[in-house]
Amino acid sequence: MSHVHDALFFMVKNLYEEKKWREILKLNEFSNIPDANRILWVWPNEEDIRFIQDFIVRNGLKGVSSIGCGNGLLEWILQQATGLAVEGIEINEEWWKSRYAYPPFIDLKFPNFPLENPLNKDHALLFCYFNNGPAFTDYVKNYTGNGIIIIGPSYGNGKHTEPPPFNVKFPSLNWKLECYKEIKQTKDFIAFYIRSGEL
Ligand SMILES: C[S@@+](CC[C@H](N)C(=O)[O-])C[C@H]1O[C@@H](n2cnc3c(N)ncnc32)[C@H](O)[C@@H]1O
Repeated sequence: MSHVHDALFFMVKNLYEEKKWREILKLNEFSNIPDANRILWVWPNEEDIRFIQDFIVRNGLKGVSSIGCGNGLLEWILQQATGLAVEGIEINEEWWKSRYAYPPFIDLKFPNFPLENPLNKDHALLFCYFNNGPAFTDYVKNYTGNGIIIIGPSYGNGKHTEPPPFNVKFPSLNWKLECYKEIKQTKDFIAFYIRSGEL
């Protein structure tokens, strides 16, 4: 337990076992803990979680398929807070099952590439701090549902993701920004896109 993030992980894990998701979010309420991103890249507050929930419900969706969910902590919090279905998709099964990785908070799915099974159209796709542009394109092409959530840094945050929350390179012109929200005062944004028109 020599590192800040190990101590933080230990606290998160205890609260997770007690199902205290609000307390987990409060651990990094001011998003100022060094290395907290080793556990989760963004630490939303409850308002942000409700904003995501509203988007999903408003668009007639039933849950979230989170692509590149990492250890799945955000997804577990979403599930606990909203009761919506969540699933987490990752690569590199060997790493996640190794003793070096933080154990995941939800079951992870490891698809074969090129993607064989279409993604669940009743779920919104979530990309939180995703970092793989070509894979983003593949996932969106395999998705016939109507909602995509992108969480990532905007200008002035100093970080970069692919896709970024704004000016996203979608594989078709049908995806339109519906609304967005800054996570606390982090210059990280949640952006919602909906499909308008035919597939
Ligand atoms: C910066 S991390 C973000 C993790 C988590 N979403 C978060 O916000 O804390 C990006 C994640 O995307 C995963 N990833 C990269 N390419 C992927 C792909 N083709 N399919 C699924 N996951 C992928 C990586 O393994 C990594 O865990």
